Parts: sequence; structure tokens; C-alpha cells
Amino acid sequence: MNDSAQSFDVIIVGSGAAGLGLALSLPKHKKIALLSKLSISEGSTYYAQGGISAVLNINDSIQSHINDTLKTGAGLCHKEIVEMVVSKAKSNIDWLQENNVHFSSDNDSKNTDRLHLTKEGGHSHRRVVHADDSTGREVHSSLSERVLHSRNIKVLEHHNAVDLITYSSSSSEKKQVVGCYALDTKKDKIHALQAPHVILATGGASKVYLYTSNPDVSTGDGMAMAWRAGCRVANMEFMQFHPTCLFHPKAKSFLISESVRGEGGLLLRPDGTRFMPNFDAQAELAPRDVVARAIDHEMKRLGVSSVFLDISHRSETFIKSHFPMLYERCLEFGFDMTKEPLSVVPAAHYSCGGVMTDKNGCTDIDGLYAIGEVAFTGLHGANRLASNSILECLVFAKQCALHITESSSKETSLPPLKAWDDSRVLSSDEAIVVSHNWAELRQFMWDYVGIVRSTKRLLRAKHRVDVLKREIEEYYANFTITSDLLELRNLVTVAELIINSALTRKESRGLHYTLDHPNIDNDNFTADTVLSPLNFNSQ
Ligand code: FAD
Ligand code: SIN
Repeated sequence: MNDSAQSFDVIIVGSGAAGLGLALSLPKHKKIALLSKLSISEGSTYYAQGGISAVLNINDSIQSHINDTLKTGAGLCHKEIVEMVVSKAKSNIDWLQENNVHFSSDNDSKNTDRLHLTKEGGHSHRRVVHADDSTGREVHSSLSERVLHSRNIKVLEHHNAVDLITYSSSSSEKKQVVGCYALDTKKDKIHALQAPHVILATGGASKVYLYTSNPDVSTGDGMAMAWRAGCRVANMEFMQFHPTCLFHPKAKSFLISESVRGEGGLLLRPDGTRFMPNFDAQAELAPRDVVARAIDHEMKRLGVSSVFLDISHRSETFIKSHFPMLYERCLEFGFDMTKEPLSVVPAAHYSCGGVMTDKNGCTDIDGLYAIGEVAFTGLHGANRLASNSILECLVFAKQCALHITESSSKETSLPPLKAWDDSRVLSSDEAIVVSHNWAELRQFMWDYVGIVRSTKRLLRAKHRVDVLKREIEEYYANFTITSDLLELRNLVTVAELIINSALTRKESRGLHYTLDHPNIDNDNFTADTVLSPLNFNSQ
């Protein structure tokens, strides 16, 4: 190992539900590094509103949760993974409570221990456990508090993982991960971190779109790093658009939880009429792909810049007690949701595809795991059922922890790491290239690879991605790296993977809708879209 390299048993890249859940599930004798691109709380987990799905009501059943997940996934879910995740939901809610997470209780029940369950699109029962409308904040605060007090876990905030370091030995066909490079953005220095187990828990890639509900860190870094290192990715075309983000110039796609519709919120045209009953029998509680497409259709048909979400027919007390955070935030933006409808638009929300893993989070590279939104596990199929995501993070964190613990006995000594070499690069005097390309990429992804696609639009986007990719690679090779440049490089890779996957799927299924093939094609397209770096032609 070179002088500046630090050595750990496990490196976890990401401090959301997946990363924190794993760090707390590994044995205490493991020396762990937990990296976070910004502060420990910055990631989608912290902003989650609706909750975590789990079967806790006696009228509900595991089979019903499985069926809803499979139905929403439109024929592409891996049934054995769905069964595994759904059946472990209750034990994970128990685990969160043991870790000091407080969920809202059911005030109408005589049993004060009973949790309140809310409803969301695609669920046939009330089964979403929540902490008012700030579930993510409650989960994240409690878990991160424990992580920050764990002596075996070194939390490295403001460390941006740049690339994985792998090693090929003559004794194994598979590559082995041996660590990663990370840019310490406070000190502007790149460190080599060494470990036999590296876990990508870097979240999703929704920042590839102009409008997104996600925080700035969701730039698909883990997907791009794994791809560059040689891992396959799958189902990248299935990007979920959340139907209802607040439409306001200063709101930066602030999410209005689906549980607002679950508790009776109605979607309205500007003239106050409902439209969802014309699109689906479940109306406002149809799966997200259906609702987002219906809104997109109505907005384009009427030439309006938003539709409206109205829950003002429920009592003020009900709204303020169920949605305290939403009520306050909307007031800050000038909307009183107890009295008037909210202007809403769809925005990119969740990456159903990602780095291919098995049921333990193992990828194509030995010692490298992917868990949480970065991963493709087979749970979501062509569309994710609401509130199944944090659940997936927690279940796979536990699976991964067990696998690491069991495989630790096979650990061998690791080869020395090379220090990062930036001796040939210069400081950029043209940072405008990075900001311009960021904006251009996200705009054309929104316009051409969004809710409604066509082959012509996808080919247009592909052409632009090819040009940007060449420009960014040249820039990356010649200039000192910054966080913005790293993210742009990753976003362009993810954009290319999404476009190529979308071009491959010549049908409309779940979240992928194309005007050229508007129907589902069960004769030819019931398999996942798998892309491999080994046979990938980027031109
Ligand atoms: P994240 O929580 O996104 O964390 C990613 C972590 O990786 C961050 O710490 C980030 O800093 C770090 N990271 C990324 N790249 C790097 C890098 N290069 N180097 C170092 N660190 C890096 N799901 C539900 O199930 N229920 C809900 O109610 C719900 N509501 C949501 C509401 C909103 C507004 C949003 C945006 C999402 C919501 N989701 C919900 C989805 C869910 O929150 C996410 O899918 C889930 O939290 C992802 O967790 P994660 O641990 O995989 O990633
Ligand atoms: C929401 O509260 O609407 C988000 C739920 C989710 O994305 O699962």
C-alpha cells in the first residue's frame, strides 16, 4: 500500500438508508469507512415522505403485497426477490423501532402500539408505515445518530468516490475489488482507500433529468463507476416520474407525497374537473406510470404548465395532523393546502434499473456489492410500487452484511494501491464547459427521453450524448477534477445507458412508453434489458 492509502475491512460509499443500514448490521469488529458526497444526511432517504410498505394490518396479507408489487412491475419483477423482500418487511420495521425510529401511531385504535398505515398508488390495502410526512428524516436521523457514535465506523463526509480500484489475479476469472479513489472536497485532495469489500450505496440517477424530486447528490455515480469497472447494468430505461411535485419557480421540484392522494387528494384540470377516472379504474391511486402519463397527456393537450392536486375538502385538523411538513412548506411557497389546490407537475423520481446484483447485493466483481437505489435486484420490474424502496434498501443491507460476514474468512492479502496520478493535468480555465454541458444534458434528457418517448427522439438524444461524451472525456483527461466534473462524467454515462436501453425495448411497458411501439409485447420483450461493458459499442 502506498503512503497515503488508508485501509479498512469494508468501504461503504453512501450514507442513505442502504449505507447506514449496512454499517449498523455488520459485526462491530469490522473497521468500516462510510463515505458521503456532502453531509451525512444529504441523499434521497432524508427527503422520503410517504413511508415504508409492510403488511401489518390483519385484513392484509403478504400475498397481497407480493401481488401488488408484481402487478405494478408489469411482468418484469423477479418473483423470488419480491417474495424475499416483502416477507422481511415486518422484521425491518421492528429493527427500525429497536433503533429508535418513531413511526406515527394509529390514534383511532384502542391499542396505542398500533402503527398508523397510510395508502399509496398501486397498493390494495393500507400498508405504508410512516412518521407523519417526514418518514425519511425520522429514519435517517435515528440511524445516522447511531452510526456517528459507532467506534468501528469512520464517517468521511464530503468525500466524493471517483472510481473503483480492481485487480485481476491469475487464479480467478473474476476481477476483485481492492478499494476506491475518493476526492476530499474540503481539502481538494484525492485519497486511495483500500478494502476487500466495497459497497456502492450511492442512490439513484434522477439528476440526469432537468426536473427531479431528488437532491443534488443523485447523479448515478455508483452506476457509472460499476460500469467503468466492468459490471453489467439492467433495466436502465425504467425511470420513474413522480406525478406530483410542486410547480413553483423556487420549489426546486418539491415533492407532494402520494399519501396526499392516498388520503383523498384529487387531481384536477385548471377548470376544476377530475381527469384520472378517464384513465384508470383506480383513478388517483393508479400506479405512478399511469398517473404521470395522464398528467403529461392533459398538460400537453390543454397547453397548460401544471395540473392541480386538491385535498382541501378534508378538514383542516386532518390535513395539519397528517401532513404537517407539507402544510408548512407549501405555506412558505404561498399555498394553503387546507383551503386551495396545489399546482403540481411530474418530475424524475426513481431509477428502477441499476447495477445487476444477486439476492445478497453481489455484483460481477468479487468483493463489490451494490445495494439500495443504485442496484438492480429484480424487485421493481418495469415500475416500482410506492414505498417499496426504503424497504429494499434495508432488506439488501441485511443480506449484504450476512454475505460479507460469511465470506470474510476467505480474505487474502490485497495488492498495494497506486496513488492517484494527477501530474499531467492542468487547472481548468474553462469551467463554463462543465456547467454548459450539465445544463444541456439534463434538458435534452427531459425533452427526448422523458415520460413519452419515440425512436426519433431517442436517436436525437443519442447523437447529443455521443458528442458530449467525447468532450467530457477530453476535458477529464486534461484538467484537474472537481465534483461537478465527476458528476457530469457519471451523468453522461448514465444517460447513454438509459438511451441505449430505451432503444432496445421496442414496446411500451411500465415506465417505458414509446409512441412507435405503444403496446406491450409479451412475445418478444419479457426479459430484462441487460447491458454489458464487455460487448458495448458506444458509437
Ligand atoms: P440515498 O438515500 O439517495 O443516499 C445516497 C448516498 O450516496 C448519499 O449519502 C450520497 O451522498 C452518497 N453518494 C452518492 N454518490 C457518491 C459518491 N460518488 N461518493 C460518495 N458518496 C456518494 N421511497 C420510499 O420507499 N418511501 C418514500 O416515502 C419515499 N419518498 C421519497 C421522497 C423523495 C423526495 C425522494 C427523492 C425519494 C423518495 N423515495 C421514497 C425513494 C427513496 O427515498 C430512495 O430510493 C432511497 O432512500 C434510496 O436510498 P439509498 O440509500 O439507496 O440512497
Ligand atoms: C411519496 O411520498 O409519494 C413517495 C413515495 C415513494 O417514492 O415511494
